[in-house]
Amino acid sequence: MNDAQLTSLFPANGDQIPAEYHIEPIHQREYLLNGEMRSWDGPFSDVYSPVCLPDANGTLQRQLVGSFPVTGPDQAVEALNAAVAAYDNGRGEWPQMSTANRIGCMETFIGKMLEQRKLVINLIMWEIGKNLADATKEFDRTVKYIYDTVDTLKNMDRNSSRFRIEEGIIGQIRRSPLGVVLAMGPFNYPLNETYTTLIPAILMGNTILFKTPKHGSLLHYPLLEAFRTSFPKGVVNSLYGRGANVVPPVMQSGKVNVLTLIGSSKVADELQRLHPKLNRLRSIMSLDAKNAAIILPDADLDVAVSECLLGSLSFNGQRCTAIKIIWAHRSIVDRFLAKLSPEVSKLKPGMPWQPGVQITPLPEPTKTQYLTDIIADATAGGASVVNEDGGKTVASLFKPAVVYPVKEGMRLYREEQFGPVIPVVVYDDTEEFIEYLITDDHGMQASIFGTDTTKIAELIDPLVNLVSRVNINAQCQRGPDTFPFTGRKDSAEGTLSVEDALRSFSIRSAVATKDTAANKAILNEIVGEHKSEFLSTSFIF
Ligand code: G3H
Repeated sequence: MNDAQLTSLFPANGDQIPAEYHIEPIHQREYLLNGEMRSWDGPFSDVYSPVCLPDANGTLQRQLVGSFPVTGPDQAVEALNAAVAAYDNGRGEWPQMSTANRIGCMETFIGKMLEQRKLVINLIMWEIGKNLADATKEFDRTVKYIYDTVDTLKNMDRNSSRFRIEEGIIGQIRRSPLGVVLAMGPFNYPLNETYTTLIPAILMGNTILFKTPKHGSLLHYPLLEAFRTSFPKGVVNSLYGRGANVVPPVMQSGKVNVLTLIGSSKVADELQRLHPKLNRLRSIMSLDAKNAAIILPDADLDVAVSECLLGSLSFNGQRCTAIKIIWAHRSIVDRFLAKLSPEVSKLKPGMPWQPGVQITPLPEPTKTQYLTDIIADATAGGASVVNEDGGKTVASLFKPAVVYPVKEGMRLYREEQFGPVIPVVVYDDTEEFIEYLITDDHGMQASIFGTDTTKIAELIDPLVNLVSRVNINAQCQRGPDTFPFTGRKDSAEGTLSVEDALRSFSIRSAVATKDTAANKAILNEIVGEHKSEFLSTSFIF
């Protein structure tokens, strides 16, 4: 595929964009604060799509999708104060509301969210270049996640709706909210990964400040009204603008109880350090990853190739769970590459709305140059791009590259490329692979491809103590969302799954008394006359 052919994948003009996916720029001039859509006439940030169209000179230019407010530190502090007031030291309407009523508000929200499905999916495609199938999946998976979270919370509440009597003490134990939560999502799953923290945090009775990602910000706009009208004022507040301006005053206030971030470990470190009382801050974070796959000599290479293809190149490799380096045994590396390379080159590039398209334009403006540079670094060290067209780039499109042999000292060996480049390392002894994982800064997931059960088992046991999920003959992935999603070292803090997230955003509180007749009478009266939301045996059906 030459440059002209790659260029021709972009629409030549607006008429080549199907009417149903056409987008009129959306200029957001308001944001959600303290139950109001506040209008904004200050500076704003233009949103450009990775989808390009030729200008009058024929040069491909990113298309304008709209713009959003760039609010400043004053608005951030105002949003913080709204969340602090809504929480009111745990005495606010939301933290005091029964679980059943909170669930009712969330169900209202889901209904309103579903009304925006088509627009949000279109914005995911336009803002970050995710293909239609994956953008649709992101929306639907998020809705399912919310339903599953609600069901899990009902079960947790049912289990807490009774008293325990142990060692002469009668007690009731429930999960209580933590306070004000600052939530920040990533650009690659701007809806899903923001909501997998935001929704459980809200449901557990916390109040929220959420900052939209730089790419994938506008798609949150249609949902702000749903938040505004589904929850009491101040429960959900939006933060717009540059992170470096709006986040420090919020963290420095010491009023944030939970920081939840899906992003880089560097940013996580910086933000945590801004909090004046670190012991009061709980952090729940999914961070950097360099998930490695190992291909054993007896692996079924067809399985290994199809899983590595999916694992390393779904959404152009822009997944924290992507396979970001492959270790192939010397005895099979040539056969593995001979099967993998043509499959990589065959992946269909194009625009996000086109059926069957797998490789789409990249949202980060400097990404193609970065990828070109790390490949150049590897080739300078003796590696080559082994697949046809690998690394060819025009505007925001980048043809995926398989780079081999990658070695220690090359940037691709350690850097998280977060893009469509597959480094392949050759090894002789599995100890080299284990040593790589030991010395790596990351510890999210790994994949083992093989058929010899003894060899697989010999790897499983050390690997489970180096990463948090070991996949056998399968790509790395987060799902199913009921599985724990976490990591070691610089890859995560805390655990996210449907149930773990509800736990992460809450703390167990107990009410206890000595088992005497007088105390039992007190408990019976409080419960019998429904005098307390906490001390209650009400059962959610
Ligand atoms: O970017 C990280 C995502 O949580 C990965 O989720 O494995 O389902 O694509 P996924």
